[in-house]
Amino acid sequence: MKLGVVGSINIDMVYKLSQFLKQGETRFGSDFQVLMGGKGANQAVMMSALNDHVVFLGAVGQDSFGEDALKHLKQKNIDVSYISKKKENTGLAIIQLVDGDNSIAVIPGANIQIQKEEVDRFLNENSDLGLVVTQLETNLDSVAYLIEQCKERNIPLILNPAPAAKLADGIIDQVAYLIPNETETELLFGSTDYESLVKRYQGKLLITMGSQGVMYYDGEKATVAPSQKLEVVDTTGAGDSFVAGFATGIANKKSMKEAVELGIKVASLTCMNMGAQGAYDQVRSQLNEKARNH
Ligand code: RIB
Repeated sequence: MKLGVVGSINIDMVYKLSQFLKQGETRFGSDFQVLMGGKGANQAVMMSALNDHVVFLGAVGQDSFGEDALKHLKQKNIDVSYISKKKENTGLAIIQLVDGDNSIAVIPGANIQIQKEEVDRFLNENSDLGLVVTQLETNLDSVAYLIEQCKERNIPLILNPAPAAKLADGIIDQVAYLIPNETETELLFGSTDYESLVKRYQGKLLITMGSQGVMYYDGEKATVAPSQKLEVVDTTGAGDSFVAGFATGIANKKSMKEAVELGIKVASLTCMNMGAQGAYDQVRSQLNEKARNH
C-alpha cells in the first residue's frame, strides 16, 4: 500500500542536561549529538520500517543539512521526489534531554514554505495513496488545504496536531483520525475530560497520554491501551512513532485495537533508543512482518 506523509524534516541537535534550564541560567551539558528528526520525517521513517511504500511531501534548505536529510530519507526507502529545496534553512530542533524527558525548540525554516501547488502536484501524481499522515510543523495554510483536498478525493487522512495549535473550524470534521497528546487536546478542545471527548468523536479521536498509554473508543466505550513498561532512554519521537504504527495498521486493514497496539509497540522501541528515529532497525526487524500478518 502506498502511504503519503506531508510534514517536516528537521536536524535534531540533542544534548543532555542534569535539569532543565531556567531563564538566564548557564549549565554544562553533555552527550551532544546531531540526529535526523522532524515530526513528518520521523513518522515516514517508521512507516517505511514497517514495510509500507512511503512518499513524502516536504522541504529542506539548500544547505548541507538538507543534503544529509535527503540522503538519509532515500536510504530509508522513502520516495523523496516531492521534497523541494527552498531558500530558507533546513529545519532545526534544539533538544534538551533530562532523564529521558525532553524540551524542544524548533526553527522551522524551509518546512513552512510548502505551498498549496505542491500539495496539488503531490495528490494529482499519487492518486493511488491509501492514506495520508500530516502534522502541524509545516505551513498551516497548506496543511488545511491538504486536509480539504484529501476529503474531496476520499483519501483518509490522519492529523497529528503537533506542535499544539488552534485549528480552523471544520478541520476536525474533515479528518479520518485525529491524534493529539494531552496538551494538544486541551488547546484544541479547551477540556481535560478526555473520556467525554473520545466518546464524542467516536473512532476518530485518539489521545496519547505518555507513559499511561493511549485513550480511544473501542466500539462501546472510551478505553486506555496501556503503554509497555520499559527502560526509557529518550522519549523524543515516541508520539511520532505511535502515529506511524497506527497509520500502518489502519492502512493494512487492522482493527482499531490492533492498530493502536502496533503504534504502542513502535513508540516503546523508540523510547528505548536514543533519538526520534533510533529504533528504525529494531522496528524493521521485530515488527515489520507482524504489521502485515498480525
Ligand atoms: O516529535 C519529535 C520531533 O519534534 C523531533 O524530531 C524534532 O525535530 C521536533 O520536530
